[in-house]
Amino acid sequence: MRRPRKAAAARPGGPGDAARAAPRTTAGGASAHPVSYSEATMTQLMVPQWVNLHGTVHGGYILMLADQIAYVVASRHAGRPTVTASFDEVDFRSPIEVGDIVTLHARVNYVGRTSMEIGVRVEAEDLVTREVRHTNSCYITMVAIDEGRPARVPQLLLETDEERARHERAGERRRVREERRGARRTG
Ligand SMILES: CC(C)(COP(=O)(O)OP(=O)(O)OC[C@H]1O[C@@H](n2cnc3c(N)ncnc32)[C@H](O)[C@@H]1OP(=O)(O)O)[C@@H](O)C(=O)NCCC(=O)NCCS
Repeated sequence: MRRPRKAAAARPGGPGDAARAAPRTTAGGASAHPVSYSEATMTQLMVPQWVNLHGTVHGGYILMLADQIAYVVASRHAGRPTVTASFDEVDFRSPIEVGDIVTLHARVNYVGRTSMEIGVRVEAEDLVTREVRHTNSCYITMVAIDEGRPARVPQLLLETDEERARHERAGERRRVREERRGARRTG
């Protein structure tokens, strides 16, 4: 017989994750979560399976990992499944080698009505020299879904100056994205 699975949010934090903060309610009664409630870290050894024709790791594989961790963070925050609406432009600053350890760290930067901007920072570590390189960062918009339609998400509680600064920059990116979407719809 299969044992019932515990809800992810009920655990005090998985391996590599910061201790998970408890969900909260705002003065108006709306559900709200701090950034630490959903943030996640994922570490992977780069193996030859993901090599491109130049002998380094495929950028597409790194984007897949970024999409996966964004799904984890967004769905934790939303408390329901999410889909990827968009990836902002991604620059790869340095190649990743087979044998490197890649660490992705992701958190919610901004919450709209049904969408969330997830910031993902990717670092590669040379296991021998222990040199750590920031290889790329991406901003991914995830939308919470209920029966196929966008669904409202809890508010985001900002607890540190760094979180407030990230939130402000993410708000600016959202305005740019919305302008572009509007232009695409009308143009
Ligand atoms: C993303 C999706 C759910 C949006 O649905 P929609 O009916 O266009 O919804 P809306 O226009 O009401 O937008 C809903 C939210 O998504 C945001 N959004 C929609 N498209 C977006 C895009 N391309 N980039 C950024 N944000 C986007 C809107 O700003 C809005 O945010 P808000 O509620 O926080 O203000 C829909 O386009 C979809 O299902 N796309 C396919 C997703 C997918 O298959 N992803 C890959 C596999 S997971």
